[in-house]
Amino acid sequence: MAFVERVFSGVQPTGNLHLGNYLGAIVNFVKMQETHNCIYCVVDMHAITMPTDVWGGPTGLPRATREVTAAFIAAGIDPKKHIVFNQSQVSGHAELAWIFNCVARIGWLNRMTQFKEKAGKDRENASVGLYDYPVLMAADILLYRATHVPVGEDQKQHLELARDIAQKFNNDFGDSIRSNGFGDGLFFPQPEPFITGPATRVMSLRDGTKKMSKSDASDYSRINLTDDADMIAQKIRKAKTDPEPLPTEEKGLETRPEADNLVGIYAALSNRSKAEVLREFGGGQFSSFKNALVELCVAKLAPIAADMKRLTADPGYVDSVLIDGAERATAIAAETMAMTRDIVGFIRKR
Ligand code: TRP
Repeated sequence: MAFVERVFSGVQPTGNLHLGNYLGAIVNFVKMQETHNCIYCVVDMHAITMPTDVWGGPTGLPRATREVTAAFIAAGIDPKKHIVFNQSQVSGHAELAWIFNCVARIGWLNRMTQFKEKAGKDRENASVGLYDYPVLMAADILLYRATHVPVGEDQKQHLELARDIAQKFNNDFGDSIRSNGFGDGLFFPQPEPFITGPATRVMSLRDGTKKMSKSDASDYSRINLTDDADMIAQKIRKAKTDPEPLPTEEKGLETRPEADNLVGIYAALSNRSKAEVLREFGGGQFSSFKNALVELCVAKLAPIAADMKRLTADPGYVDSVLIDGAERATAIAAETMAMTRDIVGFIRKR
Protein backbone atom coordinates (compact mmCIF):
# COMPACT_ATOMS: atom_id res chain seq x y z
CA MET A 1 0.00 0.00 0.00
CA ALA A 2 1.26 3.49 -0.76
CA PHE A 3 1.04 5.72 2.25
CA VAL A 4 0.49 9.47 2.12
CA GLU A 5 3.45 11.21 3.72
CA ARG A 6 1.87 12.32 6.93
CA VAL A 7 3.49 13.83 9.97
CA PHE A 8 2.22 13.22 13.49
CA SER A 9 3.71 14.42 16.73
CA GLY A 10 2.63 15.10 20.27
CA VAL A 11 3.61 17.29 23.18
CA GLN A 12 2.55 16.67 26.76
CA PRO A 13 0.67 19.44 28.56
CA THR A 14 2.58 19.40 31.81
CA GLY A 15 3.37 23.11 32.13
CA ASN A 16 6.56 25.16 31.78
CA LEU A 17 7.28 24.74 28.08
CA HIS A 18 10.92 25.69 27.60
CA LEU A 19 13.65 26.20 25.04
CA GLY A 20 14.32 22.46 24.98
CA ASN A 21 10.76 21.74 23.86
CA TYR A 22 11.01 24.51 21.31
CA LEU A 23 14.34 23.55 19.70
CA GLY A 24 13.93 19.81 20.22
CA ALA A 25 10.46 19.55 18.76
CA ILE A 26 8.35 22.58 17.90
CA VAL A 27 10.86 24.13 15.46
CA ASN A 28 10.77 20.93 13.43
CA PHE A 29 6.98 20.87 13.56
CA VAL A 30 6.95 24.33 12.00
CA LYS A 31 9.41 23.34 9.25
CA MET A 32 7.58 20.17 8.28
CA GLN A 33 4.44 22.12 7.47
CA GLU A 34 6.00 23.14 4.19
CA THR A 35 6.43 19.63 2.89
CA HIS A 36 3.89 17.41 4.66
CA ASN A 37 0.35 17.15 5.93
CA CYS A 38 0.86 17.57 9.63
CA ILE A 39 -1.10 16.60 12.72
CA TYR A 40 0.07 18.08 16.01
CA CYS A 41 -1.51 16.77 19.16
CA VAL A 42 -1.53 17.96 22.74
CA VAL A 43 -1.37 14.60 24.49
CA ASP A 44 -3.49 15.19 27.58
CA MET A 45 -4.10 11.44 28.02
CA HIS A 46 -0.36 10.91 28.33
CA ALA A 47 -0.14 13.70 30.90
CA ILE A 48 -2.36 11.84 33.36
CA THR A 49 -0.02 8.83 33.47
CA MET A 50 1.91 10.70 36.17
CA PRO A 51 0.64 11.63 39.66
CA THR A 52 -1.83 14.55 39.68
CA ASP A 53 0.64 17.03 41.19
CA VAL A 54 2.88 16.66 38.13
CA TRP A 55 0.24 17.74 35.64
CA GLY A 56 -1.60 20.18 37.87
CA GLY A 57 -4.75 18.15 38.43
CA PRO A 58 -8.09 18.79 36.75
CA THR A 59 -7.76 22.57 37.05
CA GLY A 60 -4.15 22.72 35.85
CA LEU A 61 -4.62 20.41 32.87
CA PRO A 62 -6.82 22.68 30.73
CA ARG A 63 -4.45 25.59 31.37
CA ALA A 64 -1.44 23.50 30.35
CA THR A 65 -3.28 22.15 27.29
CA ARG A 66 -4.09 25.69 26.15
CA GLU A 67 -0.50 26.78 26.81
CA VAL A 68 0.92 24.12 24.49
CA THR A 69 -1.68 25.00 21.87
CA ALA A 70 -0.78 28.68 22.17
CA ALA A 71 2.92 27.81 21.82
CA PHE A 72 2.22 25.83 18.65
CA ILE A 73 0.36 28.75 17.10
CA ALA A 74 2.80 31.40 18.36
CA ALA A 75 5.73 29.42 16.96
CA GLY A 76 4.13 29.43 13.53
CA ILE A 77 2.01 26.31 13.21
CA ASP A 78 -0.98 27.04 11.02
CA PRO A 79 -4.00 25.24 12.51
CA LYS A 80 -6.09 25.89 9.40
CA LYS A 81 -3.74 24.25 6.91
CA HIS A 82 -2.74 21.51 9.36
CA ILE A 83 -4.41 19.87 12.35
CA VAL A 84 -3.94 20.90 15.97
CA PHE A 85 -6.02 19.20 18.66
CA ASN A 86 -5.97 17.57 22.08
CA GLN A 87 -5.79 13.79 22.19
CA SER A 88 -8.71 13.09 24.55
CA GLN A 89 -11.21 14.59 22.10
CA VAL A 90 -10.61 11.77 19.62
CA SER A 91 -11.71 8.47 21.12
CA GLY A 92 -9.79 6.44 18.53
CA HIS A 93 -6.55 6.95 20.47
CA ALA A 94 -7.83 4.95 23.43
CA GLU A 95 -9.58 2.39 21.22
CA LEU A 96 -6.57 1.65 19.07
CA ALA A 97 -4.34 1.58 22.16
CA TRP A 98 -6.46 -1.27 23.51
CA ILE A 99 -6.04 -3.30 20.36
CA PHE A 100 -2.31 -2.56 20.40
CA ASN A 101 -2.17 -3.68 24.04
CA CYS A 102 -3.06 -7.09 22.72
CA VAL A 103 -0.36 -6.91 20.03
CA ALA A 104 2.54 -5.52 22.08
CA ARG A 105 4.39 -7.96 24.35
CA ILE A 106 5.13 -7.42 28.02
CA GLY A 107 8.78 -8.13 27.28
CA TRP A 108 8.88 -5.19 24.86
CA LEU A 109 7.52 -2.77 27.43
CA ASN A 110 9.89 -4.08 30.09
CA ARG A 111 12.77 -2.73 28.01
CA MET A 112 11.51 0.86 27.90
CA THR A 113 14.08 3.06 29.62
CA GLN A 114 11.77 6.05 30.05
CA PHE A 115 9.40 4.02 32.18
CA LYS A 116 12.26 3.02 34.45
CA GLU A 117 13.36 6.66 34.78
CA LYS A 118 9.89 8.03 35.37
CA ALA A 119 8.76 5.27 37.71
CA GLY A 120 11.92 5.65 39.78
CA LYS A 121 12.53 3.40 42.76
CA ASP A 122 8.92 2.81 43.68
CA ARG A 123 7.94 0.97 40.52
CA GLU A 124 5.10 -0.91 42.23
CA ASN A 125 3.41 2.41 42.79
CA ALA A 126 3.64 3.69 39.19
CA SER A 127 0.35 3.84 37.29
CA VAL A 128 -0.47 1.11 34.80
CA GLY A 129 -0.91 3.98 32.35
CA LEU A 130 2.72 5.00 32.76
CA TYR A 131 3.80 1.47 31.90
CA ASP A 132 1.47 1.43 28.92
CA TYR A 133 2.41 4.94 27.77
CA PRO A 134 4.44 3.77 24.72
CA VAL A 135 1.50 1.71 23.45
CA LEU A 136 -0.78 4.75 23.56
CA MET A 137 1.93 6.67 21.75
CA ALA A 138 2.04 4.02 19.01
CA ALA A 139 -1.75 4.32 18.72
CA ASP A 140 -1.46 8.13 18.41
CA ILE A 141 0.80 7.80 15.41
CA LEU A 142 -0.76 4.81 13.68
CA LEU A 143 -4.35 6.01 14.11
CA TYR A 144 -3.46 8.46 11.32
CA ARG A 145 -1.12 5.98 9.65
CA ALA A 146 1.52 8.67 9.93
CA THR A 147 4.85 8.05 8.23
CA HIS A 148 7.06 10.73 9.80
CA VAL A 149 7.35 11.61 13.46
CA PRO A 150 9.47 14.59 14.54
CA VAL A 151 10.62 13.86 18.09
CA GLY A 152 13.52 14.45 20.44
CA GLU A 153 16.31 11.89 20.89
CA ASP A 154 14.69 10.56 24.05
CA GLN A 155 11.67 9.26 22.10
CA LYS A 156 13.65 7.06 19.70
CA GLN A 157 13.00 3.89 21.67
CA HIS A 158 9.26 4.58 21.76
CA LEU A 159 9.28 5.04 18.00
CA GLU A 160 11.00 1.68 17.58
CA LEU A 161 8.26 0.13 19.66
CA ALA A 162 5.63 1.74 17.42
CA ARG A 163 7.38 0.18 14.42
CA ASP A 164 7.41 -3.21 16.12
CA ILE A 165 3.72 -2.94 16.94
CA ALA A 166 2.87 -1.94 13.35
CA GLN A 167 4.86 -4.86 12.00
CA LYS A 168 3.41 -7.43 14.38
CA PHE A 169 -0.13 -6.21 13.69
CA ASN A 170 0.51 -6.46 9.94
CA ASN A 171 1.90 -9.99 10.41
CA ASP A 172 -0.68 -11.28 12.88
CA PHE A 173 -3.57 -10.00 10.81
CA GLY A 174 -1.99 -10.28 7.36
CA ASP A 175 -4.60 -12.69 5.98
CA SER A 176 -7.46 -10.60 7.31
CA ILE A 177 -5.93 -7.40 5.89
CA ARG A 178 -5.79 -9.07 2.46
CA SER A 179 -9.23 -10.70 2.60
CA ASN A 180 -10.81 -7.40 3.62
CA GLY A 181 -9.21 -5.80 0.58
CA PHE A 182 -7.07 -3.39 2.63
CA GLY A 183 -3.87 -4.09 0.75
CA ASP A 184 -1.14 -6.63 0.53
CA GLY A 185 -0.77 -7.13 4.26
CA LEU A 186 0.87 -3.79 5.02
CA PHE A 187 -1.94 -1.98 6.76
CA PHE A 188 0.07 0.15 9.17
CA PRO A 189 3.17 1.95 7.88
CA GLN A 190 6.51 1.88 9.67
CA PRO A 191 6.70 5.39 11.13
CA GLU A 192 10.10 7.04 10.77
CA PRO A 193 11.50 9.13 13.57
CA PHE A 194 12.66 12.51 12.37
CA ILE A 195 15.40 13.80 14.63
CA THR A 196 17.25 16.82 13.31
CA GLY A 197 19.07 19.97 14.24
CA PRO A 198 22.15 20.67 16.29
CA ALA A 199 20.15 21.19 19.46
CA THR A 200 17.86 18.19 19.74
CA ARG A 201 19.22 17.96 23.28
CA VAL A 202 19.15 21.29 25.05
CA MET A 203 20.82 21.04 28.45
CA SER A 204 20.28 22.86 31.73
CA LEU A 205 21.83 26.33 31.98
CA ARG A 206 23.09 25.39 35.44
CA ASP A 207 24.56 21.99 34.60
CA GLY A 208 25.54 21.10 31.05
CA THR A 209 25.31 17.38 31.74
CA LYS A 210 21.60 17.46 32.63
CA LYS A 211 18.73 17.92 30.21
CA MET A 212 16.84 21.20 30.37
CA SER A 213 13.72 20.16 32.22
CA LYS A 214 10.43 21.60 33.36
CA SER A 215 10.83 19.83 36.67
CA ASP A 216 14.24 21.26 37.62
CA ALA A 217 13.88 23.07 40.94
CA SER A 218 15.82 26.10 39.66
CA ASP A 219 13.97 28.28 37.16
CA TYR A 220 17.42 29.55 36.13
CA SER A 221 18.15 26.14 34.62
CA ARG A 222 15.78 26.78 31.74
CA ILE A 223 14.42 29.47 29.44
CA ASN A 224 10.65 29.20 29.50
CA LEU A 225 8.75 30.06 26.34
CA THR A 226 6.79 32.58 28.39
CA ASP A 227 9.90 34.41 29.70
CA ASP A 228 10.12 38.06 28.68
CA ALA A 229 13.26 39.77 27.37
CA ASP A 230 14.58 40.76 30.82
CA MET A 231 14.16 37.28 32.20
CA ILE A 232 15.87 35.69 29.20
CA ALA A 233 18.81 38.10 29.56
CA GLN A 234 19.18 37.41 33.28
CA LYS A 235 19.13 33.66 32.83
CA ILE A 236 21.73 33.66 30.07
CA ARG A 237 24.02 36.04 31.98
CA LYS A 238 23.82 33.73 35.01
CA ALA A 239 24.29 30.55 32.94
CA LYS A 240 27.17 28.36 34.09
CA THR A 241 30.36 28.52 32.02
CA ASP A 242 34.00 27.63 32.50
CA PRO A 243 36.95 30.05 32.69
CA GLU A 244 38.46 29.20 29.29
CA PRO A 245 37.74 31.24 26.16
CA LEU A 246 35.52 29.54 23.57
CA PRO A 247 37.32 26.93 21.47
CA THR A 248 37.91 27.60 17.80
CA GLU A 249 36.87 24.12 16.70
CA GLU A 250 33.95 21.86 17.54
CA LYS A 251 36.31 19.22 18.96
CA GLY A 252 37.17 21.65 21.73
CA LEU A 253 33.56 21.46 23.00
CA GLU A 254 33.69 17.76 23.75
CA THR A 255 34.89 18.07 27.34
CA ARG A 256 33.05 21.33 28.04
CA PRO A 257 29.33 20.57 28.40
CA GLU A 258 28.24 24.12 29.31
CA ALA A 259 30.10 25.72 26.41
CA ASP A 260 28.77 23.01 24.10
CA ASN A 261 25.22 23.68 25.21
CA LEU A 262 25.35 27.47 24.76
CA VAL A 263 27.02 27.14 21.36
CA GLY A 264 24.42 24.54 20.40
CA ILE A 265 21.60 26.87 21.39
CA TYR A 266 23.14 29.71 19.39
CA ALA A 267 23.59 27.42 16.38
CA ALA A 268 20.02 26.13 16.52
CA LEU A 269 18.44 29.55 16.91
CA SER A 270 20.51 31.04 14.10
CA ASN A 271 20.17 28.05 11.78
CA ARG A 272 23.90 27.52 11.62
CA SER A 273 26.24 24.69 12.57
CA LYS A 274 28.28 24.77 15.77
CA ALA A 275 31.44 24.95 13.65
CA GLU A 276 30.15 28.10 11.96
CA VAL A 277 29.28 29.67 15.30
CA LEU A 278 32.77 28.91 16.59
CA ARG A 279 34.29 30.44 13.50
CA GLU A 280 32.69 33.68 14.60
CA PHE A 281 33.08 33.46 18.40
CA GLY A 282 35.93 30.96 18.93
CA GLY A 283 38.85 32.34 20.91
CA GLY A 284 36.65 35.05 22.46
CA GLN A 285 35.45 35.38 26.04
CA PHE A 286 32.11 34.04 27.22
CA SER A 287 30.90 37.50 28.19
CA SER A 288 30.77 38.78 24.64
CA PHE A 289 29.35 35.51 23.34
CA LYS A 290 26.66 35.69 25.99
CA ASN A 291 25.73 39.20 24.87
CA ALA A 292 25.23 37.94 21.35
CA LEU A 293 23.27 34.95 22.66
CA VAL A 294 20.98 37.21 24.69
CA GLU A 295 20.30 39.31 21.64
CA LEU A 296 19.53 36.26 19.51
CA CYS A 297 17.33 34.58 22.12
CA VAL A 298 15.35 37.74 22.73
CA ALA A 299 14.89 38.34 19.01
CA LYS A 300 13.64 34.78 18.45
CA LEU A 301 11.75 34.07 21.65
CA ALA A 302 10.28 37.32 22.92
CA PRO A 303 7.78 37.57 20.02
CA ILE A 304 6.66 34.00 20.75
CA ALA A 305 6.20 34.82 24.43
CA ALA A 306 4.16 37.91 23.53
CA ASP A 307 1.96 35.91 21.16
CA MET A 308 1.46 33.17 23.74
CA LYS A 309 0.37 35.79 26.26
CA ARG A 310 -2.15 37.21 23.81
CA LEU A 311 -3.48 33.73 22.96
CA THR A 312 -3.75 32.43 26.52
CA ALA A 313 -5.78 35.54 27.35
CA ASP A 314 -8.34 34.27 24.82
CA PRO A 315 -9.15 30.69 25.85
CA GLY A 316 -12.31 30.75 23.75
CA TYR A 317 -10.26 31.10 20.59
CA VAL A 318 -7.71 28.47 21.64
CA ASP A 319 -10.48 25.99 22.46
CA SER A 320 -12.14 26.63 19.10
CA VAL A 321 -8.86 25.68 17.39
CA LEU A 322 -8.73 22.42 19.37
CA ILE A 323 -12.37 21.58 18.67
CA ASP A 324 -12.03 22.25 14.95
CA GLY A 325 -8.80 20.22 14.86
CA ALA A 326 -10.43 17.34 16.72
CA GLU A 327 -13.26 17.21 14.19
CA ARG A 328 -10.84 16.95 11.30
CA ALA A 329 -8.67 14.43 13.15
CA THR A 330 -11.75 12.33 13.92
CA ALA A 331 -12.58 12.09 10.22
CA ILE A 332 -9.21 10.45 9.52
CA ALA A 333 -9.20 8.38 12.70
CA ALA A 334 -12.68 7.00 12.04
CA GLU A 335 -11.53 5.53 8.73
CA THR A 336 -8.57 3.78 10.31
CA MET A 337 -10.71 2.49 13.17
CA ALA A 338 -13.45 1.13 10.90
CA MET A 339 -10.88 -0.81 8.86
CA THR A 340 -9.03 -1.93 11.99
CA ARG A 341 -12.26 -3.28 13.50
CA ASP A 342 -12.91 -5.26 10.34
CA ILE A 343 -9.36 -6.59 10.32
CA VAL A 344 -9.56 -7.70 13.97
CA GLY A 345 -13.06 -9.16 13.49
CA PHE A 346 -15.19 -6.82 15.60
CA ILE A 347 -18.79 -6.58 14.37
CA ARG A 348 -19.80 -2.98 13.68
CA LYS A 349 -22.65 -0.95 12.29
CA ARG A 350 -22.20 -0.15 8.60
N1 TRP B 1 6.06 10.81 24.39
C1 TRP B 1 6.21 12.07 23.72
C2 TRP B 1 7.09 12.98 24.57
O1 TRP B 1 7.04 12.96 25.76
C3 TRP B 1 4.89 12.74 23.47
C4 TRP B 1 4.06 11.95 22.53
C5 TRP B 1 2.91 11.28 22.80
C6 TRP B 1 4.31 11.78 21.15
N2 TRP B 1 2.41 10.70 21.69
C7 TRP B 1 3.26 10.98 20.66
C8 TRP B 1 5.34 12.20 20.30
C9 TRP B 1 3.21 10.59 19.32
C10 TRP B 1 5.29 11.79 18.97
C11 TRP B 1 4.24 11.00 18.50
O2 TRP B 1 7.82 13.77 24.00
